[in-house]
This record gives sequence, structure tokens and C-alpha cells, in this order.
Amino acid sequence: MHHDHALWLPFTANRSFWKTPRVITGARGHYYTTDDGRQLLDGFSGLWTSGLGHCHPRIVAAVQEQVATLDYSMAFQVANDKAVALASELTTLAPDGMNHVFFTNSGSEAADTALKIALAYHRARGEGQRTRLIGRERGYHGVNFGGMSVGGIPANRKAFSAALVPGVDHLRHTHSLADMAYSHGQPGWGAHLADDLERLAALHDASNIAAVIVEPVAGSTGILVPPIGYLQRLRELCDKHGILLIFDEVITAFGRIGAPFAAERFGVVPDIITTAKGLTNGVIPMGAVIVCDGIHDALMQGPEHLVELFHGYTYSGHPVAAAAGLATLQVYREEDSFARARALEPVFEEAIHSLKGEPHIVDIRNFGLMGGIELEARPGAPGARGFEVFLKCFEAGVVIRNGGDILQFSPFLDSTPDELERIFSTVTQALRGVA
Ligand SMILES: Cc1ncc(COP(=O)(O)O)c(C=O)c1O
Repeated sequence: MHHDHALWLPFTANRSFWKTPRVITGARGHYYTTDDGRQLLDGFSGLWTSGLGHCHPRIVAAVQEQVATLDYSMAFQVANDKAVALASELTTLAPDGMNHVFFTNSGSEAADTALKIALAYHRARGEGQRTRLIGRERGYHGVNFGGMSVGGIPANRKAFSAALVPGVDHLRHTHSLADMAYSHGQPGWGAHLADDLERLAALHDASNIAAVIVEPVAGSTGILVPPIGYLQRLRELCDKHGILLIFDEVITAFGRIGAPFAAERFGVVPDIITTAKGLTNGVIPMGAVIVCDGIHDALMQGPEHLVELFHGYTYSGHPVAAAAGLATLQVYREEDSFARARALEPVFEEAIHSLKGEPHIVDIRNFGLMGGIELEARPGAPGARGFEVFLKCFEAGVVIRNGGDILQFSPFLDSTPDELERIFSTVTQALRGVA
């Protein structure tokens, strides 16, 4: 039967959505076009995805050419030339010693793939008892079973509680309004929270722990910037206890914080990096797991005719996605996008912090081109105020995102100061207009 509202939207208030649908029909550069013909300034770069702007002509051309040249080829026991080339390009951007790339189709698949590689690695080295996985409160690693389990978002876990992966524990999150509200960049307080890993290592015995996974800057739960020294401390403790460190860089890679990877920006090299989003500028879905030589080499054993890792996706390294990725990396290079983003960071920081004192705000935080404005929840209606601000901005022609009562910002890597000014003045008006 025909049904106009057949689409079930992800992470969306569906019944509210269909009362006043918001439908995008086109995009170019920094703007969307809606089905009622309006132009919207995109203040979120897609969904953290499209730092180079929408419909970048170089990426569009690469995709068009690839889809007409090699649409798809078998992914198991056969490779396509674009996936080979993209993997190689990625290792030149990645920290030294991270020379192996496993492709997925999303950030969620990258997270689950990374966790499985960690388990397989320990087993291959004769430490198969290292099965415990450590995540962090307020962490987001996508929605598949592994990522959901190490993730720390109560609402994402609640309905699936009985099916969470066993043997998972969590570090405390690093957010404390009392200790760090209105920090510019990294908070000075909170490095000691990394010592939670020492406590968990004592509790479970370190020899049972496989890996720790964290977002270098937590995105989805509202821009939680790592305290100065926190990531360094985590690295030290992982080294001390033989635990693998996984950085989920699905958001933080490819210029979002002014560097190819957060690993470089923070000077902390993990054992595994997961990424997606900016890998193809959002044009074609793709994720990647970048693995250090030691892990890869440990898994390359046994008879040569046998599969080493029983894991993979039909669309791992899809040629059209890989072509989009190659073009994206080339544009990042040619437009010097990461350095531009880094140069824009102080402008963004000043713009976002200028909202201090506007109604309902209890915190403003930023790092790279990631920003969060936390609002006080309306009594008895958590999330309502944030959602209303999102709607008001959308009506006023600016797309931002709200995660509950935390407004989130992810401007383009080449945003102009005028665009930032428009985004934040629109938010200011919206804040003044909500109860
Ligand atoms: C840090 C992080 N990991 C994983 C994911 C999941 O990615 P996807 O939605 O592509 O599965 C996201 C998505 O926002 C993310 O921010």
C-alpha cells in the first residue's frame, strides 16, 4: 500500500518530523536547497562529514568517472585499483608505523572491526584471555553491537541492555561543569580521570584487558574536549599494561581539528584508528580502520592459503567510494584544508564564546572546528529547549544540530568569518526566542 510517510528516519523524532517535514533536495558549496525552494547555510558540514562543502566538483567528477569505469568488483580474494591506492594514501597521512588499512562502510562498522581486530590480535599472540574491552561514559562508537556496548550513551543502550557485549567496562567521562565550564580549547582540569584505567586494570587484572577505545574529542555527546595530558596518560597506561589503544577518529580526522588525525594534533599515537565521514567528504559511505604494523604482522600467520582474519564486508573498499576518497584526499592537499581549518580555529573560538551570557547557556566549549553550547534543560522537559533552538535556526535558514540540550557546531574547513557570524547570530536570536 502506498504510504507517504514510509521513511523511518534514524535518530529522529519521527512523529514530530512528519508534522513539519524538513526535506533537502539539493546542495552546493556551503548551502542546502529545500523542497520548498529555500537556501540553508549548513553549519554542521553535513553530519560532520562534508568539510570541503557539498558537491565538490572534483569529487563529483571522480565518482562519475569511476561508476562508469568499474562499478563494483568482488571484494574477497580480489582487490580493485582504487582501494589499493586509497589505502596507500591513507598510510602516508597516518602516524608513522600505521601502515595497514581495512575498509568498512561506516563509522559503526569501523568501530566493530577495530574491536574484533584487537581480540584477534591478542589471540594470535597467545594472549587469548585478553577479551575485556574498555570504553568511556558518554562515548559514541556507532550503533552496532560492539560499538554500542563500549559506547556510553544511556539512551542508546537502554532498550538493548540484555544484548550488550559481555566483558565491557567504562572509564568515567571527562566532563565537569564545575571544573571546566567555558574552557577555551583543552581544559586544564581532568587528566587524572585517565587513571580510571589503572583502577580497571587492577579490578579485572590487566592481563584480561584487550583494548581501550575513546574518541580523542567526544563529538556526539556534545564536544567533550580531552583535558590537557589526559590522552598522554591513557597511552602510558596502555603501554604499561599491554592494552591496545583505539582512537575513534570518525569525527576528528581529516581537518576537523586542524590536522590529518587527532593523533597528530595531540601528539599521541594509538595502535588503531577508526575513521569514516571526512574520508570521502560524505559523498559515498565509507569507513576505514588504520592499524599499526605490529598488530597487522601478528595476524599474518598460519598457512599462506588460509584467510587470516575472518571478517569483511561485501562493500569493503568499494571502488566508487574509494575513488571518492582518493579525490577527497587530493582536494585536502591542494586546498591545504587542514592548515586552513587550523587557521580558522581562533576565529571560530572567539565567535562561539561571544555567546556567553545569552539566555539558558551554562557552558561553551570548542576544539578545532568542533563546538558545543550547553543549555540548561527546561525543568521536566530535557532536550525540549535544544530541539526548539534547532527548529528556530532551521526556519531562519541555518542548520545546526542539537544533541538533547547541547547545541553542536561543525563548520566547513573553509568557512568564512561572515558565515560563522551568521551561524552564531542566528543561534543568539533563537536562544532569545525560546522559553
Ligand atoms: C566517533 C564516532 N564513531 C562512530 C560513529 C558512527 O558512524 P556511522 O554513523 O557512520 O556508523 C560516529 C558517528 O557520528 C562517531 O561520531
